[in-house]
Amino acid sequence: MRQLLVIVLAAGEGTRMASRLPKVLHKVAGRSMVGHVMATAGNAEAGRIAVVVGPEREDVAREARAAAPEGTGVDVFVQAERLGTAHAVLAARAALEAGADDVVVMYGDTPLVRPETIAALRAPLAQGAGVVVLGFRPEDPTGYGRLLTEGGALAAIREEKDASDEERKVALCNAGLMAFDGRIVLDLLERIDDANAKKEFYLTDAVAIARSLGRDAVVVEADAQEVAGVNTRAQLAQAEAILQQRLRAAAMAAGATLVAPETVFLSPDTKLGRDVVIEPNVVFGPKVIVEDDVTIRAFSHIEGARVGRGATVGPFARLRPGAVLGEGVHIGNFVEIKAAQLGAGTKVNHLSYIGDSTVGTNTNIGAGSITCNYDGFAKHRTTIGSDVFIGTNTLLVAPVTVGDGAYTATGGVITDDVPADALAVARARQVNKEGFASRLRARLSAGLSPKKEDTKGHPK
Ligand code: UD1
Ligand code: CA
Repeated sequence: MRQLLVIVLAAGEGTRMASRLPKVLHKVAGRSMVGHVMATAGNAEAGRIAVVVGPEREDVAREARAAAPEGTGVDVFVQAERLGTAHAVLAARAALEAGADDVVVMYGDTPLVRPETIAALRAPLAQGAGVVVLGFRPEDPTGYGRLLTEGGALAAIREEKDASDEERKVALCNAGLMAFDGRIVLDLLERIDDANAKKEFYLTDAVAIARSLGRDAVVVEADAQEVAGVNTRAQLAQAEAILQQRLRAAAMAAGATLVAPETVFLSPDTKLGRDVVIEPNVVFGPKVIVEDDVTIRAFSHIEGARVGRGATVGPFARLRPGAVLGEGVHIGNFVEIKAAQLGAGTKVNHLSYIGDSTVGTNTNIGAGSITCNYDGFAKHRTTIGSDVFIGTNTLLVAPVTVGDGAYTATGGVITDDVPADALAVARARQVNKEGFASRLRARLSAGLSPKKEDTKGHPK
């Protein structure tokens, strides 16, 4: 198998984003653009990935490293001055010198490229091509390099600013992705100069140079949507829409029903089982696994959670990171679950917060119950056994444990552990004062204040 080195150019600040954040850290489907590119490079079986970042861009370097698939080596290089795309690639000289059969250059702001496209771009290298360029036909070619052909073969790439009127009429443009024969790439790069309109070292000049050295240059055409680069927030939103469409189509093809797909937002790593039903307006953040036969009802927000087979969630539910729901669990409306494991058959149906907790099987948590897990400094755990009945509006003040089969009475504030099979009553006893109401009304309507004895022990 041919060894692949991918060089990701991520040195641009992206001033048109009007942002404090560097452009490549903006997110599409919950993942940074450079993260998408790293994942694609990894999935295209890059042996190593070299990332070129701007000066003092430790944030971009960190993100790129974190996003690379496990087992893929990542080297970060700094391009001290922004002198053009060829200059940027040369910042990764050490990676180029280490050698690879194929070298592919990707841009950090082009997040929708698929691994299949990288494979297609590399294919001509195995047939002896020196350089391969990813071409596309944009609706409006303004600003792109034009692919100039001679008798069907790629002769050169002309940048917009250097092109003649005739050359500007060419519809086939450079998407930016290029693949090189690893044995000649350094030689090509070193021959590139900055004698052009922008006084930049253009990577695209490698095409004409390869031709002059007797090597073939080849165009592989790609879909315009896939290679769209992001320069503005509007283009970021377009990229989001395209990626969401892809993710929804894949989810449906794999056996999930999306009742209103255009309203469901997925992450690239969302895993939906078979016969999962997703109602309208559901958002999946990163790291969600939904097993078979689950129904996620409308307006739910789920991230970092695992939903067991046959469970139902929502409407209006929130599952936060660390929520692990067993088989057949029911989570109802206005319920939030965080860092909590709920055993099979357990139900939390209304208006509850369960955090930092372990709950057994077939337990019922009554409406409005809350685990009080935070004291302002640390989080504390609540442990609830199996077959427990937590009464409506119970406050569980962690750390606290409720044993198997126990009951807590409605409205309790549970501060002490409850033994298995016990009933915990933790609320003030009710007092009825016969005739109080009419006596009080009589005094108040006569302009008097309530009698001391009638209000004793009650707040005024
Ligand atoms: C480049 C191509 C053009 C192509 C277009 C596709 C060149 C000379 N031109 O033009 O043919 O149609 O992309 O979008 O390659 N970068 C660096 N350091 C630099 C310069 C650029 O890291 O010194 C990075 C940028 O962050 C960006 C990418 O390289 O990710 C492309 O640079 P940009 O200046 O946007 O090139 P274009 O003029 O758009
Ligand atoms: Ca650009």
